[in-house]
Amino acid sequence: MKLMVVGGGGREHALIRMLKKNPEVERIYALPGNGGIAQDAECVNIKATDIDGVARFAAENHIDFAVVAPDDPLAMGCVDRLHALGIPCFGPEARAAEIEASKVFSKRLMQKYGIPTAKCEVFDNAEAALAYVRTTPAPLVVKADGLALGKGVLICKSTREAEEAVKHTMCDHAFGKSGDRVVIEEFLEGPEVSVLAFTDGKAMVPMVSSMDHKRAHDGDTGLNTGGMGTIAPNPFYTADVAERCMREIFLPTMRAMNAEGRTFKGCLYFGLMLTKDGPKVIEYNCRFGDPETQVVLPLLDTDLLTIMRAVEEERLSEVDVRFKGGAACCVILASGGYPEAYEKGKAIDLGGADALADTWVFHSGTAAKDGQLVTSGGRVLGVTATGDTLKTAIDRAYAAARRVHFDGMFMRSDIGKRALEVEGYHG
Ligand code: AMP
Ligand code: GLY
Repeated sequence: MKLMVVGGGGREHALIRMLKKNPEVERIYALPGNGGIAQDAECVNIKATDIDGVARFAAENHIDFAVVAPDDPLAMGCVDRLHALGIPCFGPEARAAEIEASKVFSKRLMQKYGIPTAKCEVFDNAEAALAYVRTTPAPLVVKADGLALGKGVLICKSTREAEEAVKHTMCDHAFGKSGDRVVIEEFLEGPEVSVLAFTDGKAMVPMVSSMDHKRAHDGDTGLNTGGMGTIAPNPFYTADVAERCMREIFLPTMRAMNAEGRTFKGCLYFGLMLTKDGPKVIEYNCRFGDPETQVVLPLLDTDLLTIMRAVEEERLSEVDVRFKGGAACCVILASGGYPEAYEKGKAIDLGGADALADTWVFHSGTAAKDGQLVTSGGRVLGVTATGDTLKTAIDRAYAAARRVHFDGMFMRSDIGKRALEVEGYHG
């Protein structure tokens, strides 16, 4: 079989590593891939958002199965285009990807179908939004409606901050057209959990839970990033919580999308907050998370391509999706300055980290230049390790991460610390 994976980050590298395990796979093309992915797949210099280019490549190269991983091409209808060419895909069509692409859509969906989430109001007029934040007690959360590279969410502790956030988003157009409409939400508190789930619109199969670490520096300080590290499973996500989420959130979401004529097929990402009033949805993503995928997939014990094909063919319930016991930890190695300005093109020395047992070095922002691996992004590598316990996985991931070197490299030193401290948890 010839596969095509659209995207070029750490998530795609993890997907490709797992897809490669299937003996039926002869070739994998990555569009565009990156310097590290090039060791596992054939990288093709076509951007993930170049839908015409992606479709043309798939048709010309007789692709048997495509995996579209990032949010932008999904929202732009990449899967719809490939389907029109008769190419089977893993990933939602644009109508279903709306669950991530528009926060207004997802909030209205949750309100209509009684799915627990933060209370909110929607505004497409800055004056009305300002009047609302001046009369509603802070803290409040101001969110741009559209895709904004994860940066369109502003947590406002005071009325003044909320006014600034509305002006920044709606008047200064800080997030472009994404901010023409805003969602203003009540502020929720509690541990956050990420749950990725396979679904074909008939069955809903949650994967092992995980915990992201979004802030740039130790102790959850510094700016928000795309994610500085992850652990799985998430100890806050107990069997009771999982059962409640399935009943109150996961299945109702699948049924709601079906009822709206927007059947979701692919990986649905639930960003949850475990509040004192129960689990609530913070956000949906229409795709695998990054860097959640880098800890979830190494724990998967069933062939990934088999699951993906079953999702496309709407027979997911026939597949026995299993996870290994144990735990995983992914530490992101970032370029100095990230998530603000940083330099690229620094030579990377892996120091043998990729040869260690139970360890994977997933490439996010790397490129090959004259035979040398160099940095090409803010998040450069995701070093993942597994172990029987979370403690072992964390220790192994850090032992491997410390072998790597490039100028300006930094990492958080406390990935998984909060999880280890959970009372009564002896991972
Ligand atoms: P989002 O892009 O919607 O996932 O938001 C990014 C981050 O902002 C989340 O991971 C949360 O940490 C935080 N956040 C979003 N909405 C809320 C809320 N209603 N209350 C508290 N924190 C929030
Ligand atoms: N790690 C969060 C995301 O992929 O959106």
